[in-house]
Amino acid sequence: MPRCTVIANWKMHGTQTQARDLARAVRRLVGNRFRAAEVVLAPPFTSLETVRRALAGSRLRLAAQNLYWQPHGAFTGEVSADMLRDAGCSHVIVGHSERRRLFGETNRDVGRKLGAALEASLKPILCVGETLEERRRGDTHRTLSAQLTGALKGVPKSVIESLTVAYEPVWAIGTGRHATPAQVAETHGWIRRALARRFGTASGRAIPIVYGGSVNPDNAAELARVTEVDGVLVGGASLDHQSFAAIVKVFSTEFSTATGKTRTTDK
Ligand code: 13P
Repeated sequence: MPRCTVIANWKMHGTQTQARDLARAVRRLVGNRFRAAEVVLAPPFTSLETVRRALAGSRLRLAAQNLYWQPHGAFTGEVSADMLRDAGCSHVIVGHSERRRLFGETNRDVGRKLGAALEASLKPILCVGETLEERRRGDTHRTLSAQLTGALKGVPKSVIESLTVAYEPVWAIGTGRHATPAQVAETHGWIRRALARRFGTASGRAIPIVYGGSVNPDNAAELARVTEVDGVLVGGASLDHQSFAAIVKVFSTEFSTATGKTRTTDK
């Protein structure tokens, strides 16, 4: 039973051939080892089928990076939750800050997407996070609160066991500057309490909260040790199979040793 989650977000990188090679390389390195970590790869839409084939028969899971909330229709350029299920996805990233910032996704849009994903039995990875300006102004909690409320409005308690929350401070994404363990601990703790208020203590506790933003093999261990960190969402470093596998190893080790951490659900 995996006790933490390590997700690769490849963003808009790679041809199908490159995606196939990268997925095969990750499978070779991770394969059946490091079993305390659930490992999820999120390639671009065009490589979903290629990566699905590369991962077939393994325990590695497939995610999409986005979806649209309508089931079908005249929505040029969009892809529905059922289409992603059909393509072999078990997970989908929802509300990534790049989608919010560059493509104008609102908290309401994110909520609809999350609802559509849950409806189709896809496991949503809900991204939340503040900008540097919001953090400097002391508005981090206010931003996170609006993002969580918008996304989780109307979500019944019965389906939240498939939800993962990813805390990705915008200022840490792609900058080489990750949030400090103290910042991550404080913010994850706050998110945890917000989830407990929304869904009750036990359910709120059971929702994994992963961290994203400049995670690499050098900082993975200090992040893995932070209480309330249940895994990571990795961008740049996931494009290199050795870096990504090293991060998976760190997390799996931290979560499986007798002296290592227990997951939130075990507490
Ligand atoms: P980086 O790891 O490149 O900072 O990206 C993080 C991210 O946005 C993952 O979704």
